[in-house]
Order: sequence, then C-alpha cells, then structure tokens
Amino acid sequence: MPATPVAPLGLAIAGLGLAGSVMARAAIAHPGVELITAAEPDHDTRNAFARDRNVPTYASLVELCDDQRIDIVYIATPHQFHARHAELIAESGKHIILEKPMALTLAECDAIISAVERHNVHLIVGHTHGFDPAARTMARIVASGEMGALGMIAAWNYTNFLYRPRRPEELDTAQGGGILFNQVPHQIDMVRLIGGGRLRSVRAQATVLDPLRPTEGSAVAFLEFESGAAASLTYSGYDYFDSDELHFWISERGASKPPNQHGAARRALAGYDQAAEAGLRIARYAYGADPGPAPTHQPHFGLLVATCAKGEMRASADGLFIYDSNGKREMPLPKSFAGRSEVLDDMVAAIRTGKRPRQDARWGKANVEVMLALLQSARERREILLQHQVALEP
Ligand SMILES: NC(=O)c1ccc[n+]([C@@H]2O[C@H](COP(=O)([O-])OP(=O)(O)OC[C@H]3O[C@@H](n4cnc5c(N)ncnc54)[C@H](O)[C@@H]3O)[C@@H](O)[C@H]2O)c1
Repeated sequence: MPATPVAPLGLAIAGLGLAGSVMARAAIAHPGVELITAAEPDHDTRNAFARDRNVPTYASLVELCDDQRIDIVYIATPHQFHARHAELIAESGKHIILEKPMALTLAECDAIISAVERHNVHLIVGHTHGFDPAARTMARIVASGEMGALGMIAAWNYTNFLYRPRRPEELDTAQGGGILFNQVPHQIDMVRLIGGGRLRSVRAQATVLDPLRPTEGSAVAFLEFESGAAASLTYSGYDYFDSDELHFWISERGASKPPNQHGAARRALAGYDQAAEAGLRIARYAYGADPGPAPTHQPHFGLLVATCAKGEMRASADGLFIYDSNGKREMPLPKSFAGRSEVLDDMVAAIRTGKRPRQDARWGKANVEVMLALLQSARERREILLQHQVALEP
C-alpha cells in the first residue's frame, strides 16, 4: 500500500526583520513546513508579508498564540524579548525555533528551559552556523573517530558587522549589543558542536575600538574542552579586512559577493544619526526589502579549520576540504538554504519522532554561558571556569 502523504507542519514567524525575512525564504522552499502567518508590530512590514503570502497576520505575538494551525513558531524578535516570547509560545503548546543568542542571562535561559519542559514542547536555538553542512559534517567525522583525536579548532571571521545599520540597543553591550552577543555565538556553537560540547574554561580579550559605536567590535578567545582539545576564536567586525577574501568571495549566506568592498559599510553610514540609521535598517533588511543575490554555495562563517591526528578539515565553497596523508580532496555536501533548511529539518524530525533535538534549550544555555564568560574574562582579565556545559547527543 502506498504511504499516506504527511501534511507539512504549520510554521509562523515572530519578527519579520532581517532574520525573519531569511527564514521566510527558507521556509517557502522547505517541503516539511508550510509558512502560514507572522506576527510583526511594524505596520508596513506586516502588510508586505500579508500581501505576498495572501494570509492574515498578527500585530502581536499574544494573538498568534491562539492560532491552532501553528505547530512551530520561529522567534526572530530582538534578543531582549527572547525569554518572554519563548515562554509565551511554550505556554500555548507550540514548538519553538529561537534565534541566537537564546537569552541575555543564565536566569532567562533557566526560565525558558523550565517553560519548554513544563509544556512538553521542543525548542531549538538557531539558526547558528553550527547548522551549516560543513560544521555538521566536521562534527560527525570527529565523533566517528575516523580522523583520530581532535587537537584543535580555529574559527576566524573578519566582517563589516559593526557598520551594518543598527538599532540603538545593538550598539549597547548592556542590552545585548556588539559582537559578543551577536556574532561570536555562531563561533561558539560551531566549535562546541565539533568538539563534542563540553568546554572546561575560556580566556578572552575583547575591544571597543570605535568610540562612536561603543560596544565590543573585536574579540579573541581561547577555549579549552574537557577532553583537552582547544579552540581559538577570532572575530573583528570593523569593516577593514574581510575574511571572505580567503573564502572565494562568498558571503556568509553562500552568495557570490563583489570583492574588495573594504570600508564601504562605514562610508555608507556617514551622515546618518541614530534615528535615521534605525530607519535605514528597516528599509534595508525588513521583510519586503531586496534580499540580494540568492545563495548558490554553502553558508559559512569565516575560516573554520579542525585539526585531528590523521588530518585536517576546512569548510569549502560547496562542502568540506579534507587534508590528510593522501593529499587534499573536497567532499561536496548537499546544498543548504543559508543554514536555515537544517534548522527546519531538525525541528520537523524532532516533532515527527519525539526525539529531542541536539541544539536544544540546554545546549543553548551552555552557549550563553560561554558567551557571558567571554565578556567576564575580557573584563576581569582572567580564565573563567564553566559549569553548565552539556555534551552533544549522538
Ligand atoms: N542566525 C542569524 O544568522 C541571525 C541573523 C540576524 C539576526 N539574528 C537574530 O534574530 C533576532 C532578530 O534580529 P534581526 O537582525 O532580525 O532584527 P531586526 O531589527 O531586523 O528585526 C526584528 C523584528 O522584530 C520585530 N519585533 C519587535 N518586537 C516584536 C514583538 N513583540 N513581536 C513580534 N515582532 C517584534 C521588529 O519590528 C522587527 O521587524 C536577534 O536575536 C538576532 O540575534 C540571527
């Protein structure tokens, strides 16, 4: 007898800004979900979505909670709202994909964990670049032991992050601004995934080099795993060097990008005051804005190299380079939609099988612990020992 077709799961997006817009495109292309509605307070942005999709939408997340067609809510609101919004959605019995960082404090993470466990719903913290096919494949190869013991991981990224148009709170560390809350969590997720999850300690230094954008714009960190392996993270968002120069001029989401645009993001912001900059952010990134070229390569987050006893691996344009005693070869990997297809795959699988997803709420809390420890280490100029680390489930 032919198998009965399974209906796609209903997905709603909360927050139709930059992250929400990318997820909308990924969801439309994903066979396991149907994008049915969105909640967004900004009238024009909400209407652009309603017109495109020909669906009713909600001005608030509270109204969306009553919609019985929704199985999964992707929360892409600013991170100061993540804890409150995740608790609300969990209470309504819907599964959650929560953008990184999971929350701003460990207490908020605990409140989210308690809500999802009480209401028996799945939560995945993502998208992060830990969902990129290259990072996932490196993690699988390391866990299989086929390359021998893991020695170290290097994650380097140099971007224009600080000079993309920002909301005011994105430039205030106390409100979750700067690269430590916004960009380094990707590197933390990637290296924890590859190293098995349980870090022992971190030592970091972070710098505020532009007094007009007074939040951390660069950081370097040394992370030691309980296994004895280590990872180094380097991130600069100062728009001078661009490490995509070392990655075939392919953008973070996997699209071709024009080379040598150094300093262009800084120049484009000249003359904007804070209010005008926030408006520019909406015009450039909110749902309805030009999404730019479609990704034709794998997503990536700078240079990512893992060193094992029998070889080394590095993310390539379309998969993974493997360097071993036989030389260098490229392992092509199935195409991803900017890393979002994998988050959706994992959530659909968790709902269909009942098996807890790997990058769940406790995994997300462990990432937040590392993120906060980096900030503390940089401020106190000392190594910080970690206490809430969890291993990656097989
Ligand atoms: N994974 C990634 O690669 C990635 C990329 C960008 C942003 N993010 C994350 O996504 C989150 C949002 O960031 P962004 O860059 O999209 O910000 P943004 O400012 O572009 O968009 C946020 C949207 O949320 C809306 N919003 C605010 N309050 C809301 C509410 N109560 N209910 C519903 N919507 C509400 C805003 O009107 C706005 O449209 C952040 O946590 C950020 O870290 C992740």
